[in-house]
Amino acid sequence: MQKLNPFANQSSESLFERAKKVTPGGVHSPVRSFKGLDHAPVFFSKAEGAFLTSVEGKRYIDFCQSFGPLILGHRDPEVQEAVSEMINTAWTFGACEPYSLELAEWINEELPWMEKLRFVSSGTEAVMSALRVARAATGRNKILKFDGCYHGHVDSLLVQSGSGLAGEASSSSAGVSAETAHHTLVIPLDSEEQLRSVFEREGKNIAAVIIEPLPANYGLLEQRKEFLAEIFTLANKHGSLVIFDEVISGFRVAKGGMVELTGFKPDLVTYGKIIGGGFPVGCYGGRRELLDLVAPLGPVYQAGTLSANPVGMRAGLVTLKKMKRENGWEKLNQRTKKFSELLRTGFEKNSLALQVDSSASLFWIHAAVAGNIRAIDKIPSTQGSRFKKLFLKSLEAGVYLAPNAYEVGFVSLAHSDELLSQSAQIIIEAARA
Ligand SMILES: Cc1ncc(COP(=O)(O)O)c(C=O)c1O
Repeated sequence: MQKLNPFANQSSESLFERAKKVTPGGVHSPVRSFKGLDHAPVFFSKAEGAFLTSVEGKRYIDFCQSFGPLILGHRDPEVQEAVSEMINTAWTFGACEPYSLELAEWINEELPWMEKLRFVSSGTEAVMSALRVARAATGRNKILKFDGCYHGHVDSLLVQSGSGLAGEASSSSAGVSAETAHHTLVIPLDSEEQLRSVFEREGKNIAAVIIEPLPANYGLLEQRKEFLAEIFTLANKHGSLVIFDEVISGFRVAKGGMVELTGFKPDLVTYGKIIGGGFPVGCYGGRRELLDLVAPLGPVYQAGTLSANPVGMRAGLVTLKKMKRENGWEKLNQRTKKFSELLRTGFEKNSLALQVDSSASLFWIHAAVAGNIRAIDKIPSTQGSRFKKLFLKSLEAGVYLAPNAYEVGFVSLAHSDELLSQSAQIIIEAARA
């Protein structure tokens, strides 16, 4: 059957004008608005593999991949088949079914630290629920987080460093009360000294430390192993739990994410994005006795109408099985490494003061600095303006980077070596221009 494009003859600009009338800023998640880029957001109506197609019919090589879930690329044929089959079977049960059981068992077998787990519908929900479990398990209130790590829009984590004592936080969003922010402590990444100081003062009140073990929401801020080790040492000493937020890194940097790569064993882990293969799924899990605190077994209430939605469960399982079967992580990491090298060499050859940091299949292009950026105060102040130029020129030439200077790029298995080398040429040319 020929599919009609109901948006043909419409422009992104006109759709954005309409959207602004009915939606705050015209978008359903702020980063989609191209804020600060002096350009209306592109409206896309189709996606396939490594490509996005705009309503105007222009094709873009997509390095955003919906901000991470699509590790196989858009509409992978195997995932599409499973999803279509599921849609022809059932959409949602709101009752027990075998599809979530299959995914839960796969995870439990492949990621042994996930002794028990619970599916939810987003990364935010996963984090929110993990914090609740940590507070219930320890009888403590405070959560320690790091500046530059994002954990979704959970009230208590929409905070920034306060101006008083190290670790004190204030809310970073209107609508989050000072009382809520008060229960969160915030310190910079990459500082054992700050860690020790905040634990010395607040250790007995800290229910959990939450960290993106590979921070990828404010640039790509790869942490030193010693720093991560110190978190575990101090948490252990003070009876606090450690939560790895692997919503981005989980099933991305390796099958077992950063838990596998670092060898550290957190008490709780949160996942999202890839686990649902492009559908709204999140998950929290970890030590059995902690998960046994969750209702209906225990006193921690947590529920969801569409939790473990069968379409997302099938998409997630087929995605993960395919990645494993095809040795996807190794392939993808190799390709990204080559791609980053091409960019690096190109920038150097053309004397462009740009740098590429990459880790597994994530990359981040930033204004050049001496040494590694591991904390947000090391990000050059020119990052925003330089990225804007690079983004707009790349867009013009058909490469869609994530539309924000601090967002990382995502490579999928649908990006072939040839396409990556072509993309590197386009980005280097854009940077030259
Ligand atoms: C590390 C991390 N945690 C939590 C979240 C929130 O996930 P969601 O957007 O699915 O609510 C995100 C989203 O980007 C994330 O990157």
